[in-house]
Amino acid sequence: MSVRLETGYIAPFVRQHELGMIAPQVLSAHEQLEGKTGPGSEFTGWLKLPGDFDKAEFARVKQAAAKIQANSDVLVVIGIGGSYLGARAVIEAVKSAQYNLVCKGTPRIFFAGASVSGAQLVDLVALCEEKDFAVNMISKSGTTTEPAVAFRVFRDLLEKKYGKDGAKERIYATTDKARGTLKELATAEGYETFVVPDDVGGRYSVLTAVGLLPLAVAGVDIDALMAGAAEAMEKLSVCDAQNDCYNYAALRNILYRKGKTVEVMASFEPDFAMMNEWYKQLFGESEGKDQKGIFPASVVYTTDLHSMGQYMQDGGRHLFETMVAVKKPRAEMKVPDTGEDFDGLGYLAGSGLSHVNEMAMQGTILAHVDGGVPVLVLETDSLAEHDLGYLIYFYEKACAISGYLLGVNPFDQPGVESYKKNMFALLGKPGFEQQAKALEERLKKAK
Ligand code: PA5
Repeated sequence: MSVRLETGYIAPFVRQHELGMIAPQVLSAHEQLEGKTGPGSEFTGWLKLPGDFDKAEFARVKQAAAKIQANSDVLVVIGIGGSYLGARAVIEAVKSAQYNLVCKGTPRIFFAGASVSGAQLVDLVALCEEKDFAVNMISKSGTTTEPAVAFRVFRDLLEKKYGKDGAKERIYATTDKARGTLKELATAEGYETFVVPDDVGGRYSVLTAVGLLPLAVAGVDIDALMAGAAEAMEKLSVCDAQNDCYNYAALRNILYRKGKTVEVMASFEPDFAMMNEWYKQLFGESEGKDQKGIFPASVVYTTDLHSMGQYMQDGGRHLFETMVAVKKPRAEMKVPDTGEDFDGLGYLAGSGLSHVNEMAMQGTILAHVDGGVPVLVLETDSLAEHDLGYLIYFYEKACAISGYLLGVNPFDQPGVESYKKNMFALLGKPGFEQQAKALEERLKKAK
């Protein structure tokens, strides 16, 4: 098993019988999820995806990736939320947080459309003017404003640089199989398209073409990634006391009921920082509704021990921590043995940094437990493709079970619409005139 949950540090905070008492609710959540009888069941296609994905499209993803690798120095991936985070997270976890500095033989990959910052777009446009580039535009709805704006910019640049026919060979659209403006445009212009399945929501879509095309371009072994997820699908399909994914969901819920309303996902590998962001979207958008939900936060240690460490040790006690422990990091380096001790590091000379990092982690766990923070440990063998695929599925299923335990629909996101309506009204989008007046009044009063 690639991922294990260690609960040894939780004893001062959760008694053994509490897990037993929540077990019937976990079983009920499991039955709702697997039997597709729970709220949002029409969006549970991700559950069987690792064993039941479109093999022909998977092959097409690899072909498109090879073409992009051959004709482009840069791939611009345009998308936001679930159409952005997964691909970036996996590239950084598997390859490096500094992928664009270290990639050899594969294009540099930049992400756009995850904000409306002109400053960010200007820099990327300037880079693309000098390079051969391709664009993967990802939007399930095909109508999201932020990526649509970025797509206008890069499509225009592609057409100026390569002509309309050349541009169409460099645009890949990942979207709904039949609906939406992106699908219509792609069909009209003849762009190659990939599908976001109807029954897979954005934040659960990393193992569809949404994630797979950028990953394949970056040289991530997508076969191994899917195989890892498939292993998790099989191992985590039984509801029993050995199911670590279910135990994790249960413990989160037990801690939440004790007032631990914030979960801090902590890793000692900077390569995991974007996986933290992916986790935050997955759990935040799935659980934060009906005035409930654990607030997902994250840190990367030891960096953040020098910023958030004080709070974690000694601040408000409304949080628990989940440490992601990576047994075998991607690379090793030793503390140089120079035969001197000018810096007081002689006692570490020749030690691997993975050992130093491991001791930092163990010391931190014990200190935080002493400080009153319940600590769970998710141990993964590595962040390589197979193990990461396993971890991704583990998180997805834990999130679904956690949502059902909390009594929410983990597959919708009604709250995301509110800011959009206000933004459209304030920008003067036709059809929003009524709201615009009321909002402008409120803004005037507030100033
Ligand atoms: O998880 C989700 O559903 C959201 O984060 C979406 O992925 C995000 O809003 C982007 O939507 P779309 O892919 O339709 O552009």
